[in-house]
Amino acid sequence: MKKIPIAILGATGAVGQRMIQLLHNHPWFEIAVLTGSDRTIGRPYGELVRWVLDGNPPPEVAHLIVQPSNVVADVAIALSALPTDAAREYEPLWAAQTAVCSNASAYRMTTDVPLLIPEVNPEHVNLIDDQRRLRGWRGALVTNPNCSVIGIAMALKPLVDACGIDAVQVATLQAISGAGYPGVSSMDIIDNVIPNIANGVEEDKIETEPTKILGVYGSAAIALHTMKMSAQVTRVPVIDGHTALLSIKTNKKISIEEAHALIANFRAPELVRGLPTAPTLPLAVHTHAERPQPRRDRDAGNGMTVSVGRIRSCPINDVRMVVLSHNTIRGAAGGAILNAELLVAAGYSGSR
Ligand SMILES: NC(=O)c1ccc[n+]([C@@H]2O[C@H](COP(=O)([O-])OP(=O)(O)OC[C@H]3O[C@@H](n4cnc5c(N)ncnc54)[C@H](OP(=O)(O)O)[C@@H]3O)[C@@H](O)[C@H]2O)c1
Repeated sequence: MKKIPIAILGATGAVGQRMIQLLHNHPWFEIAVLTGSDRTIGRPYGELVRWVLDGNPPPEVAHLIVQPSNVVADVAIALSALPTDAAREYEPLWAAQTAVCSNASAYRMTTDVPLLIPEVNPEHVNLIDDQRRLRGWRGALVTNPNCSVIGIAMALKPLVDACGIDAVQVATLQAISGAGYPGVSSMDIIDNVIPNIANGVEEDKIETEPTKILGVYGSAAIALHTMKMSAQVTRVPVIDGHTALLSIKTNKKISIEEAHALIANFRAPELVRGLPTAPTLPLAVHTHAERPQPRRDRDAGNGMTVSVGRIRSCPINDVRMVVLSHNTIRGAAGGAILNAELLVAAGYSGSR
């Protein structure tokens, strides 16, 4: 099989580096183009990158010369790890010609842009047909959710399907890698908890994105789910792994045993199960009272499995649980790669 050439936009940042790491030896994709900002354009990637992951950049990318992010390359797929403003400007240029899988928030809630988690809402890729018709694009633009939202929406999905959800209260404990590199100052985060991220914007994302992800595709748009969400976020001194504490009000009463079984038995649709980056278990349930924990559980399923624990009744709502996901893998780079694999499998990108 000839591999599909792809570009990584914003390849020098925290998420771009994760994309490169996860694509090493990928069975379908090969990295052909890396882009950056004026700071890095024109220099070999291996010389300029300040690699923040374990080990070194893979040898196959070290010699690639960093390209401008606003010059569209001849590739089948572009994974975007650009900051929001750059994404807003450059992603549509690429999407006119190629399939863009974006991590950025710029277009997540745009009506004709799918906000995808392949295990949860793969049918939302059909929006691409509407997008191409409306915008005259040959390519496409799809997004993955905010890094906390991915774990939350995945954990809610089995309950949405089985008993409906009326309201969710969420508190998060978010890792410092979620702020990119260099991120939060060590003077601010060591021995500390910061009760705000991005001036309330993070809470807005957690309160809105799940309603689109768990909504229903139809008539060139997603009918948003009507659940009410209330979010409070904190940044904590953990390197990787976002924890979310959920209290859920269901529409129909279910027992804790049923909730436990629904989450433990959740599986991806068949099309998604065979994708190279899809984990065997999208959701793993812990029964030990002190799990999940970021350090012990973030790498489950190569960082793509979301861990759920402490499923128990709630004296105010119906069900409580703790949800943990790896923010730069499942919540960012791995999520974008899985979206790219879904586009290939669903016939929305270059042939394999
Ligand atoms: N970190 C996470 O856990 C996480 C999770 C989900 C989503 N996201 C989203 O993913 C995106 C990347 O996040 P990150 O944490 O990787 O950020 P980051 O570490 O700050 O990296 C940003 C990247 O974008 C490039 N860039 C910056 N300004 C640019 C410009 N004006 N034009 C072109 N390229 C530019 C940088 O290139 P140079 O190095 O050349 O300056 C770098 O490669 C953001 O939209 C973020 O919100 C992050």
